Amino acid sequence: MTTPAVHTPPAFNRKNLCIAGINLSRKLSGEGSPKDTRHFEIDLRGSGMTFEPGDSLAVLPTNCPELVSEVLAVLGHTGDEAVTDLDGRTVRLREALTSSCAITIPDKKLLNALCDKSPGVEADALRALLDPAQKEALNAHLYGREVIDFLLQFPSAKFEPQEFVSLNKKVQIRLYSISSSLRANPDSVHLTVATVRYTSHGRARKGVASTFLSERVTLDATDIPTFINPGKGFRLPAPEETTPIIMCGPGTGIAPFRAFLQERKATGAKGKSWLFFGEISAKTDFFYEEEWSAHLVDGTLTRLDTAFSRDQTEKIYVQHRIEQAAAEFWEWLEEGAIFYVCGDASRMATDVDKALHKVIETAGGKSPEEATAYVEQMKTDKRYRRDVY
Ligand SMILES: Cc1cc2nc3c(=O)[nH]c(=O)nc-3n(C[C@H](O)[C@H](O)[C@H](O)COP(=O)(O)OP(=O)(O)OC[C@H]3O[C@@H](n4cnc5c(N)ncnc54)[C@H](O)[C@@H]3O)c2cc1C
Ligand SMILES: NC(=O)c1ccc[n+]([C@@H]2O[C@H](COP(=O)([O-])OP(=O)(O)OC[C@H]3O[C@@H](n4cnc5c(N)ncnc54)[C@H](OP(=O)(O)O)[C@@H]3O)[C@@H](O)[C@H]2O)c1
Repeated sequence: MTTPAVHTPPAFNRKNLCIAGINLSRKLSGEGSPKDTRHFEIDLRGSGMTFEPGDSLAVLPTNCPELVSEVLAVLGHTGDEAVTDLDGRTVRLREALTSSCAITIPDKKLLNALCDKSPGVEADALRALLDPAQKEALNAHLYGREVIDFLLQFPSAKFEPQEFVSLNKKVQIRLYSISSSLRANPDSVHLTVATVRYTSHGRARKGVASTFLSERVTLDATDIPTFINPGKGFRLPAPEETTPIIMCGPGTGIAPFRAFLQERKATGAKGKSWLFFGEISAKTDFFYEEEWSAHLVDGTLTRLDTAFSRDQTEKIYVQHRIEQAAAEFWEWLEEGAIFYVCGDASRMATDVDKALHKVIETAGGKSPEEATAYVEQMKTDKRYRRDVY
């Protein structure tokens, strides 16, 4: 008798990327919305790649071809020159600038080289910022500036093709919270991505990975290098547990909770669930509205509270909804609920944290110090879990 072959799923990681294709790209932001948030479905068939709700997908993007051409033009090269890229491969310069070099984020090596090659008052000012003691001032100066801005600022600085490649950082992966469950969608991984576009210093800019997905990836082409980044701390209770869950996911922060609810429906999870969602307007940005309605009807979702910030004169955010529902929120906490928060780290997560303390103080009758201790205990018990960016 022969021993059956053991199937080991391939271990995809930064060094062994899974090259996937996309089979659906759909705009979630409606007509008239200032945002461009999209739903993507990436084909997993035949890849062997698996994941759990709470994991993220790492995407290795390529740079915008127009930006690459602009950098080449400023450098005075055609792009056909042979170079060794930052992974040691022999490629044309255009390919190195497209796939290997992080041409939007200037490395200090490049800034120093520009100062050396183009001495003068401007180089002196930049060199002063490169002093380690000036880290904050340098960061402020770099905010909203890319490699192209510095090349244009120092036009007399000339670089050989290989020299230029070596002065850049490597293109970095970007993480996206997975917004689907394999139990509900066994052949694909879904993402919910806000396309980053803004203008700074008079130039229109594009976020590398979000515009790679929304503008440059073509349907049915197999050209997205990916791997799964496990979200170890962002896990659901077992389906048979009655632990309630409270999910707070404004904007793209909704992504893991769509995966959670798909998973809970598929596994018939027992506990109650409460979702807080916020976006700018109910009319244009109520992402996945029909899915939440269906989950409310079939009992997968117990309660949904929404905060549409720009539908009235004063801003209404998820934390305001949490505070308005303080009594019930406190009851759920006392029943042992796990509180999950996903989305913007800089403002939302801080304000939601303050709202959590406020609920514990007002509805729970605790002093500020006791509320802090309660939150600390929640963290220790892994009942306050955040995935913020
Ligand atoms: C665990 C995790 C999960 C995530 N999940 C999601 C998700 O589900 N969906 C999602 O959309 N994103 C998610 N992100 C964020 C995502 O990884 C990327 O950071 C985001 O898409 C931007 O990447 P980008 O390559 O498009 O932009 P980049 O090329 O990285 O550009 C973004 C940078 O541009 C600069 N910038 C942006 N706006 C301005 C401005 N107005 N003025 C000046 N400079 C500006 C900032 O320096 C900013 O860091 C997640 C991040 C993490 C860490
Ligand atoms: N670098 C930047 O300048 C910048 C700006 C925006 C987003 N981002 C990042 O882009 C990513 C995606 O953003 P996103 O599209 O998911 O959504 P988002 O910008 O987080 O917005 C989602 C909702 O949250 C609201 N919001 C704004 N401030 C808030 C606060 N303090 N507390 C609670 N809610 C708040 C927004 O309202 P209003 O917009 O009406 O105030 C909107 O209704 C996130 O990583 C975010 O950090 C960066």
